Amino acid sequence: MNPPRRFLSRREILETAVALGGLAITHPMRSLLAQEVKRQLTPEQVMGPFYPIIRPLDHDADLTIIKGKQGHAQGKVIHLTGRVLNSKGEPVRGARIELWQANTHGRYDHPSDTNQVPLDPNFQGYGVQITDAEGRYRFKTIKPGAYPTGPYTMRPPHIHFDIMGKNDRLVTQTYFPNEPLNEKDSIFMSLGSDKDAAVGKVLPPTKELEPDSLVVAWDVILDRG
Ligand SMILES: [Fe+2]
Repeated sequence: MNPPRRFLSRREILETAVALGGLAITHPMRSLLAQEVKRQLTPEQVMGPFYPIIRPLDHDADLTIIKGKQGHAQGKVIHLTGRVLNSKGEPVRGARIELWQANTHGRYDHPSDTNQVPLDPNFQGYGVQITDAEGRYRFKTIKPGAYPTGPYTMRPPHIHFDIMGKNDRLVTQTYFPNEPLNEKDSIFMSLGSDKDAAVGKVLPPTKELEPDSLVVAWDVILDRG
């Protein structure tokens, strides 16, 4: 009788890899790493009340300009980029990513949003992209403002996503690191140990980007892709 199959923990695999020293990781080890290290899944979160009722005609990946208009959206430009992967770390090509968010002032272009701050006529607020062969996506947008949800509660800056992979659909939100409002937000705090998987990494811009922009890197892990 065969002994029961035992999965190595991530730590055991890494320790084994370290023990191999300078040796190249052999093919069986590479496939073991790929198969047995299950990545932390991106947590599901509520869609919220501001998914666009009327999707704009312009819904490309650059939310900072609207086709046919001269102006640019107000606020801090961010290049939000990452990959959609399955839990084995394999890229999910052709995933459809919808994004929607508040403008720099914290207002959605949605009739239910009663926040008394301005709309930005040059901000697209919604975009769609399809991941490439490596599972990559990229949006140029604005860092959203925080907004009130009651007399004493504010939602921290966050961006909503609806992601259609080949097998899984995920509705979720991503957050920015080191935002004091994160720890006061009931939706964010309800994620518990999944919180980190919902926070992007903020990086300085690469030299071809606007010098005062930021890169926000955030990978999405869908269980079955
Ligand atoms: Fe929101």
